[in-house]
Amino acid sequence: MNQSTAPLPHGVDPAWLPSFALRPLGSRRIRIAGSGPLVDTVRGEVAAAVAEHGGVLVDSQEPVDLDLICGNGGTEAFTVTREDRTTTVHANGGPGLLYGFHHVVRRGEAAFDGTWTERVAPRQAIRMLDHWDNVDVHPVMGQVERGYAGGSLFYDNGVVRADLGRVAAYARLLASIGINRVGLNNVNVHRTEARLLTDLLPDVVRLAAVFRPQGIKVCLSVSFAAPVTLGGLATADPLDPEVRDWWARTTADVYAAIPDFAGYVVKADSEGQPGPFGYGRDHADGANALARALKPFGGTVFWRAFVYNHRQDWRDRTTDRARAAHDHFAPLDGRFDDNVVVQVKAGPIDFQTREPVSPVIAAMPSTRLAVELQVTQEYTGHQKHVCHLVPLWREMLSFRPWGEEEGTVADIAAGRASGPAGGVVAVSNAGDDPFWTGHPLAQANLYGFGRLAWDDRLTSAEVLDEWIGLTFADPDVRGPLHRLVDDSWRTYEKYTAPLGVGFMVRPGGHYGPDVDGYEYSPWGTYHFADRDGVGVDRTRATGTGFTGQFPPPWRNLYESPETCPDELLLFFHHVPYGHVLHSGTTVVQHIYDTHFDGREEVVRMAATWAELEGRVPASTFRRVTELLGEQLRSATEWRDQVNTYFHRKSGVPDARGRRIY
Ligand code: GCU
Repeated sequence: MNQSTAPLPHGVDPAWLPSFALRPLGSRRIRIAGSGPLVDTVRGEVAAAVAEHGGVLVDSQEPVDLDLICGNGGTEAFTVTREDRTTTVHANGGPGLLYGFHHVVRRGEAAFDGTWTERVAPRQAIRMLDHWDNVDVHPVMGQVERGYAGGSLFYDNGVVRADLGRVAAYARLLASIGINRVGLNNVNVHRTEARLLTDLLPDVVRLAAVFRPQGIKVCLSVSFAAPVTLGGLATADPLDPEVRDWWARTTADVYAAIPDFAGYVVKADSEGQPGPFGYGRDHADGANALARALKPFGGTVFWRAFVYNHRQDWRDRTTDRARAAHDHFAPLDGRFDDNVVVQVKAGPIDFQTREPVSPVIAAMPSTRLAVELQVTQEYTGHQKHVCHLVPLWREMLSFRPWGEEEGTVADIAAGRASGPAGGVVAVSNAGDDPFWTGHPLAQANLYGFGRLAWDDRLTSAEVLDEWIGLTFADPDVRGPLHRLVDDSWRTYEKYTAPLGVGFMVRPGGHYGPDVDGYEYSPWGTYHFADRDGVGVDRTRATGTGFTGQFPPPWRNLYESPETCPDELLLFFHHVPYGHVLHSGTTVVQHIYDTHFDGREEVVRMAATWAELEGRVPASTFRRVTELLGEQLRSATEWRDQVNTYFHRKSGVPDARGRRIY
């Protein structure tokens, strides 16, 4: 048995690939034609499934239930045809066969019924998960920065794990949802992690070998200062010939060891990381220097656009963090090499529960852009709260920056709209927790990210439905789980920061309420509440001018409180508490109502979960029950802190006379 289909380590949850999910396929007669490493992976999968469920893997030309046929190309697309009682997957290459195999698993019994044909191809060529994992345990951030699922799957206290069995199981889960790139270390590159590029490269070679049989290529986050810190040069100036030579030599060594290495992820001039600004250069100079080192080997630089001033003076009303990425990057459009992907956070601030789409995404038609999402729940409840993020991502990916007639954000990332393709990237929420994701229901976010990256047209209900069907054997859990999970992001939004204003979390850790936690701080994340009103004026007329970074129609729709969508009102406008929303209620009454309602919805979520006792595995039941207790405690805390804060600031009583402290 090869490592990719080895049994899961004891006590580890099988997530969405439990034994029963393989039964429809594993109980049948199956033939595989083709050769190559990914075909071997599929063969290993099929052999394990038939051994467990009583089917057979046949070689001869006899009738079969499932015919898996692979050519010698390299594409990811495949077709599935069902006729004359045989389901046939045709793929032109190994990746397509692997994805076709998992497609059949996902379809379950339906894959073996009726007569039909499907052509399936990913809508994005790059579907990447970034791990913010540290090799060393960081004194503040721990082993995984913003990780809420235990330690790293890859590293354990200073070294790459000796046993990578769990990584192999993880790679298999990722392949089953179509992920084809993984970033192996934190974008904040600390001292030890920087060395993954040089003397610790053998560890990267080992990890790459575990991901390779699942069609996944690895990337490293590198430090822009590496020529100095690792190479001993006097400068990391991207235009310096010695610096360029250092990147070229170092990169050649990486490719000698890992020929299919995907490239570098770079966080530069951001939150204290070194970058081209230190040498009087811009981000195109910086990105292109690394791109040229990667170019001969077909590698890519994923250059992050998360650049802003995090040492702001709160008294300065002209600096707006929301503007920063566009201010820095939009003028550089056209200057990036074709193997640079500018990786843009989906929102202009920082993975908040609600933000507009970043205007950078529509502003760089001559640049490859990737959209970055956050699966790890940094601002959305730390995998202690049920917060299903697929509807949020779906909304952002289907946003049309130029209005109804033009392309979506997903189209831009895929190269179907204005410019060339970049892809979709997200920060992973997985760790060495037995459930992989801390909260067992947060597995649905990881699953959903992969599926949406593959096909952004899937609805969030469809994606959740697939996940439920694969994960839980009892069909009766479907209804209650939809009730509990479907709208949980909106529930979370209700009891946390209102109307798109963001943050209000405890500084540092970002869990739990602290309404003024970031007010008057250098991070540039303010709500400006006073006795009269709340919100950030980002208009062109009287504010920071951020609305002007959007193309029409949004620059105009966001500019006026009359046309700005309610859910983003306080992101764009500072309004009096008595301002009446499109919904008909005032801002302050909306705050009270949503906070009372949101907390009540958590009570109902817990009751819904209680119905599932005996229908889901006991360990899952216990873990979720415990976490829902914490979610209710935390939602109550949020409700009371936010409502009390605005009650005291505004002096406006609750129209329904509920208790506010
Ligand atoms: C957020 C997060 C950091 C992270 C940063 C990034 O600010 O809190 O931990 O490093 O995003 O995306 O680079």
